[in-house]
Amino acid sequence: EKGGYEHFMLKEIHEQPKAVQDTVGAYVKDGAIDFTEVGLTDETLKNLERIYIVACGSAYHVGMAARYVLEDMVRIPVEVDLASEFRYRNPILVPNSIVIVISQSGETADSLAALRLAKERGIPVLGIVNVVGSSIARESDYILYTYAGPEISVATTKAYSTQLIATYLLAVQAAKVKGTIDDKRYTDLIAEIQTLPGKIQKTLDDKERIQWFASKYANAKDIFFIGRGIDYAISLEGSLKMKEISYIHSEAYAAGELKHGTISLIEDGILVVGVLTQKNLFEKTLSNMVEVKSRGAYLMGLTTYGNYNIEDTADFSVYVPKTEEYFATSLAIIPLQLMGYYVSVAKGLDVDKPRNLAKSVTVE
Ligand code: F6R
Repeated sequence: EKGGYEHFMLKEIHEQPKAVQDTVGAYVKDGAIDFTEVGLTDETLKNLERIYIVACGSAYHVGMAARYVLEDMVRIPVEVDLASEFRYRNPILVPNSIVIVISQSGETADSLAALRLAKERGIPVLGIVNVVGSSIARESDYILYTYAGPEISVATTKAYSTQLIATYLLAVQAAKVKGTIDDKRYTDLIAEIQTLPGKIQKTLDDKERIQWFASKYANAKDIFFIGRGIDYAISLEGSLKMKEISYIHSEAYAAGELKHGTISLIEDGILVVGVLTQKNLFEKTLSNMVEVKSRGAYLMGLTTYGNYNIEDTADFSVYVPKTEEYFATSLAIIPLQLMGYYVSVAKGLDVDKPRNLAKSVTVE
């Protein structure tokens, strides 16, 4: 049942090219996005003035990445909330808005409660859900299924990757109908999304270097992940993957926030992972990496092929294929998933069933 892999997590990491391919294939027909199955019309997208994204855990991290993509591409405000916060803060939900609930299981108690709150207030809900017929899928007004297939490992990988795709497709279609991108850009963005499965596969093919590095750092006590913009969203998920299965304390910080407190934690030998996939933020994050290095941190740099000057600063560099910067999360997350996995294996932990965690959190 593990298809020759040692753990479900490793199997599911390797299923990502297919999961992404299946999700793209479900909604892209003849080079155009078709949301008929979702129930979302161009008319509805055209009238949208605000988007609220609500989710928990890794699905929330998808929302964090999606906000950068949606706001930049579609030019409407996007708010992202943890479901357990949203439901208790009496949120202001404006007309002509939509609430997007992202959930692999479709049963997460707080996400379901957030969905019900939105509906009570008369705001339509779009569910991005993996499990067919789950509560969130049934109660959503629009349902965009991800096609990750069953996910067994508690730590999500392939569902997360397909959720990202769902948000890209939504952004590209909304941008088209709102006229913030032209037809050529629309076609090019879709074509780029279609290249992602191959590029994820290429990233997976480099896994041995990550395995080697992970075994070297398996005894680390603390790891910090830093990045800006989309790279910050990637850092959040990289950090969660690390801590939940390896039990190493890890934190993600917006790189610019370091000097507002966290930098006092940096001392000799602490591992700091810098994520640098966004050209306009590269130099900024790099200078934060130089700062922590001068305080003794050991640096891993995660960037795209071509940015070889990272090696002047980073002690260990990992490269992912180039893609449209909006979609960089889909590639940069792969080495970070592998790192969490291999650290957990090196420590001899129960990778697929980390202590204290459940696959589906149906209590509040
Ligand atoms: C982390 C993880 C969790 C889930 C969260 C939401 O690897 O799997 O953080 O992302 O519990 O679960 P769903 O997506 O089922 O609502």
